[in-house]
Amino acid sequence: TSVDAHITILPAEPIGTIAPEIYGHFIEQLGGVIYDGVWVGEKSKIPNHHGVRQAFIDAMRAVKAPVLRWPGGCFADSYDWRDGIGPAEKRPQRTAFWTQEDSNRYGLHEFMTTCRAIGCEPYLAADVRSLPARDFYQWVEYCNAPSTPNLSGSLPGGINALAAERARNGSPEPFNVRYWGVGNEVWGCGGSQTAEEYGGEYRRYTEWIPRYGATDEQRRDSLRLIACGANGDDARWTAGVMKSISEHHKPFGFSTHYYTSGDAKKFAAGDALEFDPPTYYDTLARGAFMERIITDSWSALGETNHGHSVKIIMDEWGAWYSKSTELGPKYNLSQQSTMRDAILSGITLDIFHKHADKVAMANVAQTINCIHSLMLASEDKFTVTPTFHVFKMYMPHQGAQSLRVEFAAASIPNPIARVTPVGGNSADGSIDPASKLAGLSGSASIATTGNGKVMTLTVVNPHLDQPITTEIVIPGVTIASVTGEVLTAPDIHAHNDFTHPNAVHPEPAKLGTPSGGRLIHTFPPASVTALSLILA
Ligand code: AHR
Repeated sequence: TSVDAHITILPAEPIGTIAPEIYGHFIEQLGGVIYDGVWVGEKSKIPNHHGVRQAFIDAMRAVKAPVLRWPGGCFADSYDWRDGIGPAEKRPQRTAFWTQEDSNRYGLHEFMTTCRAIGCEPYLAADVRSLPARDFYQWVEYCNAPSTPNLSGSLPGGINALAAERARNGSPEPFNVRYWGVGNEVWGCGGSQTAEEYGGEYRRYTEWIPRYGATDEQRRDSLRLIACGANGDDARWTAGVMKSISEHHKPFGFSTHYYTSGDAKKFAAGDALEFDPPTYYDTLARGAFMERIITDSWSALGETNHGHSVKIIMDEWGAWYSKSTELGPKYNLSQQSTMRDAILSGITLDIFHKHADKVAMANVAQTINCIHSLMLASEDKFTVTPTFHVFKMYMPHQGAQSLRVEFAAASIPNPIARVTPVGGNSADGSIDPASKLAGLSGSASIATTGNGKVMTLTVVNPHLDQPITTEIVIPGVTIASVTGEVLTAPDIHAHNDFTHPNAVHPEPAKLGTPSGGRLIHTFPPASVTALSLILA
């Protein structure tokens, strides 16, 4: 067989454990994400678990969602957590971000019910723009203080007042929230701060924050604080904040947001459904720019964080198009999601694996009814998108050891000349490093399972009309057997909707027979493939 490309997996070159949290999620009180998407109410005819849409829970369980971020996004920057606790009928109606009305029916306890039903960790984004540090401190206390007397240690006393309030509101047991975002996009909707100003705020908000647990170790790991990072490739921000945060205040992670947009100066541009081949390749090249953002952020973090203990948290990512395909007027920022977005998801997740030593969490924006969604829902109608299938096919990577992989395939020139996608609306523009797209990209990991040692190889072939026959080689191992799935469609615009929820779905991959550590495989055009290689 003549081959077009080569993939070499290097088992002797481990990169790091792929944090399951790389497969994290994000939901915000925005458009139809919470109200209708996640929350349908206990009295709804739509199947629900204490008011949370059952189909949402099921889909999240199906992709083993490890972590869920809430309440925002920019919504978090003006959200008072106290509005969303206590008897539902007493909660205040507010005009929230993007001038939407918020009944506060979905609050902290409902969010925790959601996380518990999914079996994932909560990640709360705290408001450091409009609330004082005391409210952050007390939100931690409300969530994590034990409701037994005097457990925090030293002096005799009763039950913590906020733990008692939490118990009265239905949860005697602490929520034990570990992940806390200290502000969101503080360079923009979170207060238009400079890196130095935010560094000072970060120190003030996180000083003497309560940590619970019987042992020192438990207390240390009871909070994983996440500092607000850059807008796309703005490494100056990252370096600046890190300089202002002392060693003593070092966060667990540093968040970064990168949206793939059709325009370097806007968060959102292009059309979700109508696009031509050059625009298709350009979107993917912009998406692949994620790798440069990770390596630039890592270098910036390393300027002061010499041991590299502070990891990257890519807590908003996805392709964000202009309005035109929303589910309806009340579903602000919802958009359709095609095979193009599935391919972008594969490219992005593979980049995260390749940098498993650097990326500790990533949260797709957003899980349902907003931007790069895995699910779309409107009243009793529900569908998963092609991106959902990629998350599901890639599941074996979660918690596995990422391996270095070499890809040798001709690259695709980006037909659209562009400026640097620094991400979002602060772009200053320069020469485009995303001028080429890899002709084949992917990642590999290894894990020990009930079937012995299993390698997972995921590969994206972005060519619109070229299958790529590839020689896959794993030096020093014997492949005993191989199984695989492929996600593709005759038309790159293919997508699922409420009347055709299964239009795009994975199929078993057509597989050859391995010989020693070698396999010939043809990756169909515009496809995402996951191969499972069981080693002898
Ligand atoms: O995900 C939508 C919005 O994009 C979020 O609220 C904000 O953080 C970002 O600008």
